[in-house]
Amino acid sequence: MRTILITGATSGIGLTAARQLAAAGDRLVLVGRNPAKLAVAAEQVGAAGAGAVDTLECDVSVQDSVRKLAAEVLDRYARIDVLANNAGGYFGSRSETVDGVESTFATNFLGGYLLTELLLDRLIASAPARIVFTASVLHYGMRLDFADLGLRKGYSGQRAYSRSKVAAVLYTRALARRLAGTGVTVNAFHPGAVATGIWDSMPWFARPVLGPVKRVFMISAEEGGERLAYLAVSPEVASVSGCYFQRDRVKEPGRGARDDAAAERLCAVSAELTGLSSP
Ligand SMILES: NC(=O)c1ccc[n+]([C@@H]2O[C@H](COP(=O)([O-])OP(=O)(O)OC[C@H]3O[C@@H](n4cnc5c(N)ncnc54)[C@H](OP(=O)(O)O)[C@@H]3O)[C@@H](O)[C@H]2O)c1
Repeated sequence: MRTILITGATSGIGLTAARQLAAAGDRLVLVGRNPAKLAVAAEQVGAAGAGAVDTLECDVSVQDSVRKLAAEVLDRYARIDVLANNAGGYFGSRSETVDGVESTFATNFLGGYLLTELLLDRLIASAPARIVFTASVLHYGMRLDFADLGLRKGYSGQRAYSRSKVAAVLYTRALARRLAGTGVTVNAFHPGAVATGIWDSMPWFARPVLGPVKRVFMISAEEGGERLAYLAVSPEVASVSGCYFQRDRVKEPGRGARDDAAAERLCAVSAELTGLSSP
């Protein structure tokens, strides 16, 4: 029985992926920040055939919460076969977390970065193992601006979201280089335009058209979940690492996400922001 840990498992892509992965009888570790939603998710994932279902509380935007989660995971699980960093959100207006980090960056990237780093030795000891980041097609056309990583100037929800996903792809590629030869793979993917709750945080003027757009143009959460489940367990991608996927195919990421110097700088900045020592 594999142990598969998914953040953002209380709704949308994370929850549907967990339900799909449960069918193989594996242990699903569902991570979320809302206990009531976690309980509902656990019931659904259990009913879908999971060999075991555990729930762990964590707000991935809060570093202490991620550290507590990592400690709990290391304490409870001798092996981790899959870590899916999927939790994410869209923030229409700028805010900062208790750690003083811009919320989009903290939620969509830095929390997953910290969790991955804290679990890395256990993942390596569990090899073959996989790490998956839920990124987005919206990373194209965007670069990180290290002079203003927190977007104090010219904040827009879309810019912050796109940059957080550039960071996820950059880190995926840098981490894959570090993990070469360990039997641990790391990949990022775009799930498609998926009709989930994340769109409900879009600006007010976009909301009236959202319902029809979701129904007509977007794929279902189940289809989005399939993309995550594919990278988590499919034998087809067992030895693929450091790649960005769309529709289960490797695709060249955007220029800003292929900048290896930016990736190294991001790793150093992220280590500093989270109090880790640089690899
Ligand atoms: N939907 C799309 O079209 C699309 C496209 C590209 C990429 N993505 C990415 O897909 C991932 C999943 O999003 P989704 O579309 O499935 O949206 P969703 O239904 O809103 O799910 C987001 C999940 O992340 C969790 N989450 C958000 N902030 C969190 C925090 N601070 N701590 C812990 N958990 C947190 C949410 O928990 P709660 O239930 O407590 O809110 C929820 O479980 C995100 O990374 C998103 O950026 C989505």
